[in-house]
Amino acid sequence: MVPSSFSNDKVAVVTGSSSGIGFETSVLLAKNGFHTYATARNPGKSQALMDIARDSGLPIQIMQLDVTSDKSVNDAVSRILLESKRIDIVVNNAGYALVGALEDTSMDEIKAQFETNLFGAIRVMQVVLPTMRNQGSGKIVNLSSMGGRIAIPFDSSYHGTKFAIEGLSESLQYEVEQFGIKIILIEPGAIKSNFFNNLKPASNAQKAGSPYAQTMQKLNVRFSSLVENAPPPVEVAKVILKAVTSEDPDLRYIVGDDAAAMIQAKRSMSDAEFGKLMKKQFLSQ
Ligand SMILES: NC(=O)c1ccc[n+]([C@@H]2O[C@H](COP(=O)([O-])OP(=O)(O)OC[C@H]3O[C@@H](n4cnc5c(N)ncnc54)[C@H](OP(=O)(O)O)[C@@H]3O)[C@@H](O)[C@H]2O)c1
Repeated sequence: MVPSSFSNDKVAVVTGSSSGIGFETSVLLAKNGFHTYATARNPGKSQALMDIARDSGLPIQIMQLDVTSDKSVNDAVSRILLESKRIDIVVNNAGYALVGALEDTSMDEIKAQFETNLFGAIRVMQVVLPTMRNQGSGKIVNLSSMGGRIAIPFDSSYHGTKFAIEGLSESLQYEVEQFGIKIILIEPGAIKSNFFNNLKPASNAQKAGSPYAQTMQKLNVRFSSLVENAPPPVEVAKVILKAVTSEDPDLRYIVGDDAAAMIQAKRSMSDAEFGKLMKKQFLSQ
């Protein structure tokens, strides 16, 4: 149940709304009365969202925003403020996963991964924080992952970004709570979105001569089975809605039984025990 104080004058901004979690979050926020700016780096991919908004009369506006570009982020936020005068909720959702052994991954690929998943979220936060501070209120949701608490093999750059957003958010909450701003981390396990189709293999990991090729193959098999039984992105959207409509949200929200089990296992085990579990789960045949 959403408190009645949440009405159309509340403004939400979602990054990466063209698919998956960002798409479902935009729809759910709009259904619950938020005037929602569903941003996408390529608004040409937002036709389905536009159709839903039009057919259901939802307060959704599509806007171009590429989290890797200062200009794009500044322009989008300026336009939103010009139109709506306020921003209550930001969902830093845009992201993808680079996969491959670190040795097979180029610096450019790693920088691009951090540019989207980490610096993209920072870029958006730096631009919206002055507005939220002046309002004396605001909630920033950062899409972390189960992978921000535990790390699976051959995904070191992705985990680097998600562990980083965890530490950054944990520190930032203390800075901004005095201004009425809340920071929220969402930690989903595997979710059946386009995420797994959009996995970016490191270019050298594709080469047959990679010394990691055989181990990487085992991981690919494991990945496919993870996705098969994964919940849909709307389950994450529901948790985001719950968090942003709470008067006093928690810092962290875990989504999915797999995430809950893995995070609990890491908490309760030694590093050596947890390492054995991970190898059994991800690297055995
Ligand atoms: N699915 C999972 O299992 C899972 C689990 C834990 C956490 N997460 C996190 O959840 C978030 C959303 O993932 P998803 O599952 O919804 O995957 P998805 O369906 O692949 O959606 C990713 C979204 O990010 C957008 N994006 C990528 N780079 C961007 C950029 N530079 N600027 C703006 N948008 C950009 C994509 O836009 P395009 O359509 O233009 O590519 C797409 O809309 C990610 O941060 C991911 O790390 C996902």
